[in-house]
Amino acid sequence: VTDTARISLKVNGVTHRQELEARVTLLDALRERIGLTGTKKGCDRGECGACTVLVDGRRIKSCLTLAVMQQGREITTVEGLARGDALHPVQAAFIRNDGFQCGFCTPGQLMSAVACVHEGHTGSDDEIREWMSGNLCRCGCYPNIVASVRQAAKEMS
Ligand code: FES
Ligand code: FES
Repeated sequence: VTDTARISLKVNGVTHRQELEARVTLLDALRERIGLTGTKKGCDRGECGACTVLVDGRRIKSCLTLAVMQQGREITTVEGLARGDALHPVQAAFIRNDGFQCGFCTPGQLMSAVACVHEGHTGSDDEIREWMSGNLCRCGCYPNIVASVRQAAKEMS
């Protein structure tokens, strides 16, 4: 016997009704149930930040929370950043500054960067590095990621 729960998740403004086991993480619900595979699974244990999404505007690691706990909240994934053909300023800044190589960490970096700018943690490169430190990049794009966040902060201010 498995304990399933009937839940509804609001992701990028769209409500998704799901029946899933209570132990399913938000990350697995997004990727495997709802089909939003932009959010990446790196470590699946809170260390890499590849799975970062926004919940009610705050960044969280979606591998560390259960889907059932996020009902009624506004969840934003990387798929929800652009407005039609118009990239979010953070996405545009990552392209302009070569803020990625393989791109695997990028969705998480983008979500973290959006929050970092809104939190006002972009006063200096050191501050950006500190507040983006939960997002690892195996390709070592850190200088370009910092430059991207710096530019996005300027454009969003
Ligand atoms: Fe969630 Fe690595 S997959 S922090
Ligand atoms: Fe490859 Fe960051 S761009 S892991």
